[in-house]
Amino acid sequence: MTTTQQSFAPDEQAQQFLSREVHHLFVDGELVPASSGQTMTTVNPSSGQVLATLAAGESTDVDRAVSAARRAFTGPWSRWTPYERQALLTRIAAVLDERFEELVEIEALDMGAPVSRLRNSKSALMKMLAFFAGQATNITGETLPNGIPGNVATMTLRAPVGVIGGIIPWNGPLGGQFWIIGAVLASGCTTVLKPAEDASLSVLRVAEILHEVGVPAGVVNVVTGTGAVAGNALAAHPDVDRIAFTGSTETGRRIIEASKVNIKKLQLELGGKSADIVCSSADLNAAVPGAAMGVFANSGQICFAGTRVLVQRPIVDQFTERLLEFMETLRVGHSLDAQAALGPVISQPQLDKVLSYIDIGRDEGAELLSGGERLGGELGDGYFMAPSVFSGVTNQMRIAREEIFGPVLSILPFDDLDEAIAIANDSDFGLGGAVWSQNLSTAMRVVNGVHTGTMWVNCYGYIDPLVGFGGTKLSGYGAKGSAAHMDTYLYTKCVYMQL
Ligand code: NAI
Ligand code: MG
Repeated sequence: MTTTQQSFAPDEQAQQFLSREVHHLFVDGELVPASSGQTMTTVNPSSGQVLATLAAGESTDVDRAVSAARRAFTGPWSRWTPYERQALLTRIAAVLDERFEELVEIEALDMGAPVSRLRNSKSALMKMLAFFAGQATNITGETLPNGIPGNVATMTLRAPVGVIGGIIPWNGPLGGQFWIIGAVLASGCTTVLKPAEDASLSVLRVAEILHEVGVPAGVVNVVTGTGAVAGNALAAHPDVDRIAFTGSTETGRRIIEASKVNIKKLQLELGGKSADIVCSSADLNAAVPGAAMGVFANSGQICFAGTRVLVQRPIVDQFTERLLEFMETLRVGHSLDAQAALGPVISQPQLDKVLSYIDIGRDEGAELLSGGERLGGELGDGYFMAPSVFSGVTNQMRIAREEIFGPVLSILPFDDLDEAIAIANDSDFGLGGAVWSQNLSTAMRVVNGVHTGTMWVNCYGYIDPLVGFGGTKLSGYGAKGSAAHMDTYLYTKCVYMQL
């Protein structure tokens, strides 16, 4: 690992947005202060300095935003044709393509992902918007046979469900918000978004841009605020039809509780503790960087991070040596440093949480081979942490069972494939996972054996909206991507027509 810190400043456009005195809520196409006048601050995790002041929305603000979304849902927006919604999504893609750098800088400063990572994410965003533009013209029902006497025609229609509550985490809101916005615009729904306290700015900025591009007022609203207040008010709101949530399993449970008020259907993408299985038959030239970045990308703050790296015993030493070598090449630095591969973690509490797991791992008897500490020197004011590796980890240890959500990789040795599959499955979670082997039969045995929503073979972390990804067990339910994604945004109506 190498580190760098010089002083970095955003370009003029991002700076102009960031220098607003207070970032207001975005409701019914307008910036409005929180009704209470309360504010909260968000910090730049590279510097530890306050970056911006945000409106702290409360339940009255959520009420106001939900009313706006409901009015928009039944207003002129409901008469837009699929072609018009598709064209809107295409225009949005073109404008975001042009203005992406401003959003990259806002996101980098707000949540700490390095600009290199964010710039690379542009093509994924463009694919997502193309995918949802396609969905707009692919919402179809069926004509069905029936056994009803007489002449009765039967069919199903698929219709937009109404107001979607979108509760967004801090680990990648710039791209992540479009899983919701894209589907809302494709389906004809409307939404109230509640971004995370620590990273709301890219969601607020995108809402403004969407309206400049022609999204009607009230279709996309943003209420910033705390999860306990604004988030809970949204999840419990009787006039919100469905919730799309990504975040921790614990908060997912609270949202399930809150949703019972009107039996909301939920799309939940929750935590993970994914197993990345490196077999003796793996090509280590690919497996070493692949498994490393499967954990360290975004400083470990990815739901499907492959944090349990299961390595077949004969190659443990060789794998470990090469992993440590690869880690020497990782540059940790300020999120605006174009050379940095890794930025800080999101906040002081998150850093404290991740560091506490270093102590937990040591106490449990795992051996810390690398990292394990906060970085000082020029990076000392930010929440920077050295990428860290534990070896000799057993699957019973807390560091192998609980989501750490930081740059901490655990190596768990295994003897044969059955054991690897058993270890992989001995987890509360089931979100991601991978196998590295040049033997396709071996790879397919693992793919079939592991109980998880997404499996990669000889790669890690590819997501394409056409294919999608999802979770099982405590990692949640409801597809992201693929045509099934739209199920959260549509309902089915069975029609019986006496002719
Ligand atoms: P969180 O799950 O509490 O936050 C995610 C979103 O939910 C935020 O917008 C938050 O404001 C909102 N929220 C919080 N409480 C809520 C409630 N009662 N009702 C409605 N919305 C609520 O995650 P947090 O606290 O930011 O991070 C804690 C841990 O969660 C992390 O250390 C990590 O382990 C995990 N996490 C996992 C993510 C994933 O993608 N799997 C994403 C973010 C966090
Ligand atoms: Mg922030």
